[in-house]
Amino acid sequence: INLFLTCIEIVQLIKTICMSKKPLILGIETSCDETAASIITENEEGNPIVLSNIVSSQVEVHKEFGGVVPELAARSHIEKIDWIVEKAIDESGKKITDIDAVASTAGPGLIVCLSVGLSFGKAIAGSINKPFIAVNHLEGHALSPKLNSSLDYPYLLLLISGGHSQFLKVKGLGKYKRLGTTIDDALGEAFDKTAKLLGVEFPGGPQIEVLAEKGDPNKYELPKPIFNKGGCNLSFAGLKTAILKITKSIKTEKEKFDLAASFQKTIEEILYKKTKVAFSEFEKQNGVKEKIFVVAGGVAANKKIRSMLIGLCEEKNYKSIFPPIEFCGDNAAMIAMVGLEKYKLKLFDKLDHPAKPRWSLDEEAAFLKGAGVRL
Ligand code: KG4
Ligand code: ZN
Repeated sequence: INLFLTCIEIVQLIKTICMSKKPLILGIETSCDETAASIITENEEGNPIVLSNIVSSQVEVHKEFGGVVPELAARSHIEKIDWIVEKAIDESGKKITDIDAVASTAGPGLIVCLSVGLSFGKAIAGSINKPFIAVNHLEGHALSPKLNSSLDYPYLLLLISGGHSQFLKVKGLGKYKRLGTTIDDALGEAFDKTAKLLGVEFPGGPQIEVLAEKGDPNKYELPKPIFNKGGCNLSFAGLKTAILKITKSIKTEKEKFDLAASFQKTIEEILYKKTKVAFSEFEKQNGVKEKIFVVAGGVAANKKIRSMLIGLCEEKNYKSIFPPIEFCGDNAAMIAMVGLEKYKLKLFDKLDHPAKPRWSLDEEAAFLKGAGVRL
């Protein structure tokens, strides 16, 4: 009888271990110029835990060209991907065979770059015989705040990165409604182009913020395209043209700082106004229970934009959520985060899943003529 009871206890113990085994997800990101890998899991309460987050930037590779060169980016991903993934696994303290699923960015992005992380992820998933999950890079940004704060759907998202600028209602995993978008340049692009015109080395976007601190924000009057029309849609192309004209007459360092400061101030004014419009659009949507505003993407690292938007949220009674700075720019923890949510719902992909250079979060809005913007 004693032996029988011991057997039952052992079976019970194995069951408990199996049931409490939390998923371990490997995330891989190579959509543009960052080679990244991360291992995440979750705790007993279901909150994510980032065990490792390795990001290798290619700034040095692209510096002399003043922008990302796709072929060089892809070559650099190929050179680095295996040791970046190895490092992520080592730092997590786990073994490759402990991984429960592999999530790779499948789009949007540069196809030659996407293909590297996608095929590497598929190969690992296949070799350890675990599910593969194809992740939309933008969904990674959209869920990045979940890496360190609990967040209920639906919420309003402002996604501001190098390739995208959109207001979205996030209804749930894979469920997005676009409320507004840029009709020309993305905000990160506007920062980068302004930096280039001011003679700042690539990648200049983040440095504009630093230069702006030394200048007079009221020195130059810059245009604010579609400021009073077009709902919460955005436009930044006119700013670039205005800045190009001014740079031609700039002679001193002081004038350069003033222009950076005027640009930063103009962006803050545009975002302040358009976010207010987005708030009212969001509140008109069905199923909105709580006023939650999330800002994600590389430009969300801009401290002045952050504090301005936090102030607006206080004014309008919104709960504001920003991912920590290390999860604002491109990283693989956010890709693993989407992987974790999809894993729990058993949303797996086949190993022949294609790379998708264009992949909108709101497929219905993606096909609207002229971005569906009425001016
Ligand atoms: O999300 P991200 O890393 O890559 C894309 O998916 O595009 O965003 C990169 C963009 C770049 O355009 C970069 O200049 C911008 O984010 N960025 C910033 C700051 N940090 C990064 N823009 C303004 N202020 C910053 N502090
Ligand atoms: Zn990104």
